[in-house]
Amino acid sequence: MALFSKKSNEKNLQINIPEHIGIIMDGNGRWAQKRMLPRSAGHKAGAQTFRKITRYCSNIGVKYLTVYAFSTENWKRPNEEVSALMNLFKSYLEEALADFKDDSIVVKFIGDKSPFSEDLRKLMLENEESSKNRDGMVLNIAMNYGSRDEIVRAVKRISSKVKSGELNSDEITEETVSSYLYTSGQPDPDLIIRPSGEYRISNFMLWQCAYSEFVIMNKLWPDFSTDDLDEALEIFSKRNRRFGGV
Ligand code: IPE
Ligand code: IPE
Ligand code: MG
Repeated sequence: MALFSKKSNEKNLQINIPEHIGIIMDGNGRWAQKRMLPRSAGHKAGAQTFRKITRYCSNIGVKYLTVYAFSTENWKRPNEEVSALMNLFKSYLEEALADFKDDSIVVKFIGDKSPFSEDLRKLMLENEESSKNRDGMVLNIAMNYGSRDEIVRAVKRISSKVKSGELNSDEITEETVSSYLYTSGQPDPDLIIRPSGEYRISNFMLWQCAYSEFVIMNKLWPDFSTDDLDEALEIFSKRNRRFGGV
């Protein structure tokens, strides 16, 4: 972990920059409802926050950022909200992600792309392809992501390797399982931030979060600022991570 001494409010607190941060971008709907606006206005505002926080993480030296944008369960929402979200994703992939070029950000989508429209899938692949040789922060955008689904997929792929004889079941390790997840090759998240005050994981990185530090913040995602991120980093820096040791 890198050391970051810039913005701590507390004297002598050394800020550790996590190698991998996960963010459950929650609270867009409540933000809009508080303003008597449609929920889609909250998603639009949340997309601006995403842009700002991603750039900030890249600037302070985070190596991997995973943002939860749409879960496998979010299809349950009213059609109107789902289609507003799909339109927003589309315009984002067309414009905003091009911005990340200046920061050398590598864009990856984690989750099952197959239910998305052809246009959207094409844009996702184009973004992955055009950014893959950059050398900056890796940004995982979790879309139609559910960690239980991710684990089921891994189990299916591992069992077919065992069936075909390519893999011996006695040789399956924790590393084997990790290598079949969407985050294959990446370190587990050190810190997971959930704005909006909800104390739950909502199917996000269940395997990968075994030893992640959780920071729940009371801000709704559209109101989340770089100062809030700094505060989460301060909280993280004071934690004593033992990984089961003493
Ligand atoms: C998060 O905000 C965005 C998505 C899940 C797509 P919500 O839409 O869940 O906002 P709240 O939790 O209802 O306020
Ligand atoms: C989690 O938020 C999913 C995303 C932020 C994309 P939800 O709003 O869907 O989670 P619950 O329903 O509060 O658990
Ligand atoms: Mg929510």
